[in-house]
Amino acid sequence: MKKKILMIALIGTIVSACSQKEKRTNVEEYPTFAEAIPALSEAELIKRGSYIVTIGGCNDCHSPKVMTPQGPAPDPARLLSGHNQNEKLPPVGDHNGWVLFSMNQTAYVGPWGTSYAANLTPDDTGIGAWSFENFKTAMRKGKLKGLEGSRDLLPPMPWQIYKNMTDDDLRAVFHYLKSLKPVNNLVPAPIPPKAS
Ligand code: HEC
Repeated sequence: MKKKILMIALIGTIVSACSQKEKRTNVEEYPTFAEAIPALSEAELIKRGSYIVTIGGCNDCHSPKVMTPQGPAPDPARLLSGHNQNEKLPPVGDHNGWVLFSMNQTAYVGPWGTSYAANLTPDDTGIGAWSFENFKTAMRKGKLKGLEGSRDLLPPMPWQIYKNMTDDDLRAVFHYLKSLKPVNNLVPAPIPPKAS
């Protein structure tokens, strides 16, 4: 009898170990670091937000670049201001199924058409009028301007990954973005696939 119970327990452990393993293949199931961080001062929030934006690669797409001996680097004068409204892009031509990035890495061509990195600075042309709720909706649900009824954000904005950020981390990023120098830059609307 004891042996039988032991067998059942053993099988149970193996089955649950296998299903655990299967779960881990889904990014939704990765552990999140949900413990609340202690209440931070405004300066600490901004510092943490800056850290998350740096390692989160937001500048790769959202900052226009200056050329350096190491290649294109975010322009400190226009940090996170999105695709420059005055930038002339070369003709796309036949891209044979490739996805293209512009030289500044702020404009993208793919099966979704042409998309442009948004202005994330606290100007009226950026996130100046946004509430934290808007920011959360944009980052968690991939909605333009953080409005529930608006269109879905286009690639290559990887909100499907960033939606896993904790509320505390999102809040820190939001405070950092709101602390940036406002840059007046009205990013063009995306171009649908046929016209691009
Ligand atoms: C690989 C490129 C890429 C990276 C990396 C990236 N973004 Fe984006 N992001 C975009 C593009 C392109 C858009 C505009 C999409 C559209 O027009 O639908 C966008 C849009 C957004 C929007 C919505 C803006 C609006 O006006 O609705 C927010 C907010 C945003 N990004 C925040 C971030 C943050 C914060 C990070 C870093 C944690 C980040 N993005 C990293 C490409 C990127």
